[in-house]
Amino acid sequence: MTDALLHPFSPPSMPEGDFIEIVRGEGSLVFDSNGREYVDAMANLWLCQVGHGRTEIIDAVTAQMRQIEAYNTFAPFTNGPASRVAEMIAERSPHPDGRVFLGCSGSEAVDTALKIARQVQQRRGHTGRQVIVKRTNGYHGTNFGGTSAQGIAPNREGWGDLVPHFVEVPHDDLEAAASVFADQGDSIAAVLTEPLQGAGGVFPPADGYLEGLRRLCDDNGALLIFDEVICGFGRTGEWFGAQTFGVTPDLITFAKGVTSGYLPLSGVILSRSVCEELEEPGFLLRTGYTYSGHQASCAAGIANLEIMEREGLDQRANHVGERFQEGLRALQADGLIESWRGMGAVYAAELGRDSIPVRNEILANGVIVRPIGTCLAICPPLVITDDEVGRVIDTMAAALR
Ligand SMILES: Cc1ncc(COP(=O)(O)O)c(C=O)c1O
Repeated sequence: MTDALLHPFSPPSMPEGDFIEIVRGEGSLVFDSNGREYVDAMANLWLCQVGHGRTEIIDAVTAQMRQIEAYNTFAPFTNGPASRVAEMIAERSPHPDGRVFLGCSGSEAVDTALKIARQVQQRRGHTGRQVIVKRTNGYHGTNFGGTSAQGIAPNREGWGDLVPHFVEVPHDDLEAAASVFADQGDSIAAVLTEPLQGAGGVFPPADGYLEGLRRLCDDNGALLIFDEVICGFGRTGEWFGAQTFGVTPDLITFAKGVTSGYLPLSGVILSRSVCEELEEPGFLLRTGYTYSGHQASCAAGIANLEIMEREGLDQRANHVGERFQEGLRALQADGLIESWRGMGAVYAAELGRDSIPVRNEILANGVIVRPIGTCLAICPPLVITDDEVGRVIDTMAAALR
């Protein structure tokens, strides 16, 4: 293999030969090019809800591609799979009477949500409202909007000027958010937050925090955007984190779990009142992507959501969570980890020291977890078996010892 491929979030100096080549997957297991088996305790990268190797999704995509692989959805064109997947997503969301914009990546979803929030404020006559309030530890993708919205400082560095008018608040400090609103409430277009912060280190929200943000937005005419790229599609024990935490945002971004990664699909769910601003006759939504509503991706989404519904995977995170919590409590009781945090089917084990060497040892013993600073993140397929959870915890314990 040559070094032609430039890997994302990787050292460009790392030779291609040092990467692990994953060639096959089955349920919660993946296999590398040397035939070595791993428990995929990261569900690829926080996303493979239904597990790998589902022939039902593969067949749905193949059948769609035999009809037509893709055709754009710019007016005057539409297609059945895009329309159907949008309907299925809206029905399961807190906005069954809302609408769904489609893209490919989480980054596209985030940038589109930010643009829609500002557009809605403009259309309401609030032309001075441009500020986006974002939180420390937030991860919102790597397009320019999402990069500007990053609460992980190193991810913002080295790219030159970012998008203006982003204001960062400490991640769980409602007082700090309230004081930004007190200072510049008239300039704020929206607050952007993950319900549970994922890639920044798995931080569930403090009690009352999301409710507090909702109140601040309502009292000050700002929109609330939940970035549910990780939380969406069953990760927290309901279809969306908004439902788990009982707080309804105006816009919801999603990606990853909507297809479990079988093909790229993402989007933004818009509340009815947001839609009404855009549905005014004569207005043209001048944003979107060639692949918005890509038929094959949408067919993968439909098949994935059907599997999740039939197998009750929208709720299974709670069962997976009980098993992991048991294991993590035991690791803590044995003094192997400092603490743990998380809920549903997403956790972090806090080691209090660089987690990369421990991750490497765990990986060498056939389990994939993700090092984030001083913690190890776990976010398995929602179909993971109790035995496989046991393997993850036992392998972590051995490496930590
Ligand atoms: C909350 C959140 N938003 C946005 C993104 C970006 O998604 P993508 O990598 O598909 O662009 C991610 C990716 O992990 C994410 O976790």
